[in-house]
Amino acid sequence: MSDMKFCIPVGGELGTSTSKFCCDDKIVVFSSVVGSPLSESMEKSWRLMNRSPDKRWIRNLAVFDESRNSWRYVGAMTRNSEKLNWFTHKGLIRNFEDAFLAIKAGLFLLNVEREKEGKPMKNVGLGFGITVRHGENILEKFFSYIKERLVDRNGHKMLQIKAKNVATDEIKDVEIQLDFSVMQYQAYGAYMAILFSKYNMNVYNTYVIDIGHGTWIKLPIINNEADINLSDSVAEGMYTITKNISEIIFETSEQKFKIPEQRVMERLPLKEYKIDVPGVGVYDFSKLLEQESRDMAHRIVEKISSDIVTLSNRGETIDYFTVIGGGAHSLFDTIKEELGTFYGWSKETANERVINPATLGVDPRFINCVGFMLLARDQVALELGKDVDPSFKINHVTSDAGEAT
Ligand SMILES: Nc1ncnc2c1ncn2[C@@H]1O[C@H](COP(=O)(O)OP(=O)(O)OP(=O)(O)O)[C@@H](O)[C@H]1O
Ligand SMILES: [Mg+2]
Repeated sequence: MSDMKFCIPVGGELGTSTSKFCCDDKIVVFSSVVGSPLSESMEKSWRLMNRSPDKRWIRNLAVFDESRNSWRYVGAMTRNSEKLNWFTHKGLIRNFEDAFLAIKAGLFLLNVEREKEGKPMKNVGLGFGITVRHGENILEKFFSYIKERLVDRNGHKMLQIKAKNVATDEIKDVEIQLDFSVMQYQAYGAYMAILFSKYNMNVYNTYVIDIGHGTWIKLPIINNEADINLSDSVAEGMYTITKNISEIIFETSEQKFKIPEQRVMERLPLKEYKIDVPGVGVYDFSKLLEQESRDMAHRIVEKISSDIVTLSNRGETIDYFTVIGGGAHSLFDTIKEELGTFYGWSKETANERVINPATLGVDPRFINCVGFMLLARDQVALELGKDVDPSFKINHVTSDAGEAT
């Protein structure tokens, strides 16, 4: 393939709560949800009444859905939708139409960011993360679903994206040549990023723990391969904690004021642990967060330790652990300590054996996505017969999250 040298490697994953797409030093993050659009006249009056100064594409995005012949709101814009569909259910792609829209949205939003620098995305190779439970069958079907919807231009496969900024009423048509797509298990992305950086391409058995908003995933990688029998995704995540905090605050206010769990969640990245509860005053949930995080970390390590025993019976040992996902910010230290206690490690050994993605210069929340970009980059290098560039750094994060209030 001669034009492979123009191919831009992109990484993407559809999480249960947020989807992430990255390319070079940019990542876009948006809620994994699509929704019905307002009627044309309703949309017009919404636009007139809309007082939000945030007119960015990522906050006000609609993508045209050919399969339904209608617009669909994506991510934050679904705040105006009557009916919502999450991209995934229990970690599995719910329907191909929506997942395809998610990919279109991700590529479109990345392109918006690149265009600001005069570098539109013309050719893309996509590295895509999926959960273990999908099975290869579904994925092959999904990829052929996508392929069937690409438009042929002189033998090149083009992905056509029609998007609308609902706040400004601007419509944009983008055509991107999709050179290839490759997939890997979700938590494997983090392993790739570590393999390319810290491991310097040497293979170490690595146990990945990915703690997200709605779920946590475990994936041991033994001899460079995901051990899918020991992989699992558990419907517990930061949401479990933020929901509890929200409920306790509700009780404290004698059931007068409900602080939605989302308000609690949004505060975590800001390291703001105080909330003003009308009639009660300022509620400080830092102690509560600490305790809940400890409890969850304990439950997680309990599950992991039984895998370690299983592996050891097979004669396998884990060289390194890593804790990733947005939950790592709150749970990393406790998980490291508990693993240390389980193995009887010294503090130094624990620091050495449990890898914090932050030490590799990447937010634990983004390391999987970065890994899928490396997967795509690896593929490009392979086709060009060149060495792969193993470096990565995310400098621009574009998110559809509202300002915390
Ligand atoms: N810098 C941060 N500090 C503390 N908590 C954070 C930070 N960034 C994100 N979080 C929390 O992490 C969670 C989101 O993590 P992540 O993006 O890994 O989840 P997700 O991938 O969307 O969910 P899932 O894996 O269940 O699909 C949210 O609960 C958020 O509050
Ligand atoms: Mg996740």
